[in-house]
Amino acid sequence: MTDDTQLNNIIAARIAEQGRITFADFMAACLYEPGLGYYTSAGRKVGAEGDFYTSITVHAAFGRVIAREIARMWRCMANPGRFTLVECGAGNGRLACDIMDYLREREEGLYDGLTLVLVEREPTLEEAQRTMLANHADRLSWLSPEEFAAGDFTFSGCLYSNELIDALPVHRVVMTTDGLREIYVTIREGAFVEEPGDLSTPEIAEYFRRIAVELHPGQQAEVNLNGPKWLSAAARALSSGFILTIDYGYPAQEMYSQKRNLGTLLCYHRHQIEENPYLRLGLQDITAHVDFTTLMKRGEELGLVNLWFGEQYRFLLAAGIIEEIEEIERSDIPDGEKLRLRLTLKKLIMPEGGMGDTFRILVQSKGVDQPDLLCQRRIGG
Ligand SMILES: C[S@@+](CC[C@H](N)C(=O)[O-])C[C@H]1O[C@@H](n2cnc3c(N)ncnc32)[C@H](O)[C@@H]1O
Repeated sequence: MTDDTQLNNIIAARIAEQGRITFADFMAACLYEPGLGYYTSAGRKVGAEGDFYTSITVHAAFGRVIAREIARMWRCMANPGRFTLVECGAGNGRLACDIMDYLREREEGLYDGLTLVLVEREPTLEEAQRTMLANHADRLSWLSPEEFAAGDFTFSGCLYSNELIDALPVHRVVMTTDGLREIYVTIREGAFVEEPGDLSTPEIAEYFRRIAVELHPGQQAEVNLNGPKWLSAAARALSSGFILTIDYGYPAQEMYSQKRNLGTLLCYHRHQIEENPYLRLGLQDITAHVDFTTLMKRGEELGLVNLWFGEQYRFLLAAGIIEEIEEIERSDIPDGEKLRLRLTLKKLIMPEGGMGDTFRILVQSKGVDQPDLLCQRRIGG
């Protein structure tokens, strides 16, 4: 599908029927309208032929380092019984495959009793995941996001996600002389336009109170209420173990600083950044950075321990990326290929200009006594 008319008409009809809609509802339609949304329609999203890269598309070493940490988590859990891995927002299953390959190759004791549960909003991706993970077929199962959140599913082990929270629909607000106002989407003269109004839910004001942030006059910002809701479901499902969240974002003070006066909302289309979310509906990705402070505060309220939070490059360095690079060096692949891989892997850990410091990792635990993870090691000391 290369035409956004159908989705345009659906959203316009919704506005005609019920009046202006929140930006979160608009974004939900653009990303997840069945058959028409960015993530719920056919076509490649990630990688060279898609619209954006994620760390996973860079090299298997990313997943292998996460797998090293997962093995450490398993060792930290005195008696995990069956250790279950859960990936939320698993996409085509590439990260899960890199993790499972590593565990089968290096961590037989863990792999033997392992189950991998894949949770994905887009149901047709199950087929791609099945193919990608064919070598691990006897260990796989699937849950829809609704089944995952319903409260019947519980597990011990590790739940991880890569770029899930940034893909959840956000509300948008602006600080005015009349106080905090929500940005709504409506239609005027046939075009989508924004208009401010009262907050659609008191949860938005509560959100800012919790993180003790007051926006400056004129400042716009995104409010992701779905992220902490998802974390609540995750914490409820986790009997004991870890939640590892990888995404781009900031602590709240940085995320909502005046430096980001227009917020962090961005769209991606064929590797180009686009600031206008009202173009190419359903054909371009829409994302907002993640406020990690909210995830940490909500985690504490849910009985999780915030074990580690920091830039992705720090995590990767402490958890084994250098060991992965050394293994590539020792392997018998041609020298030219080794050089290419070294340069590729640099992208993952480069603090500036690469993915190393835009991306952050949060590790939370529940019911694990004094875990001693690889990411908690001091780098270079
Ligand atoms: C930005 S993509 C990231 C995909 C993959 N993790 C990667 O890094 O390439 C976000 C994915 O999360 C999925 N998603 C959105 N909401 C979800 C939810 N509540 N539960 C599970 N998956 C969800 C989307 O369908 C999409 O495939």
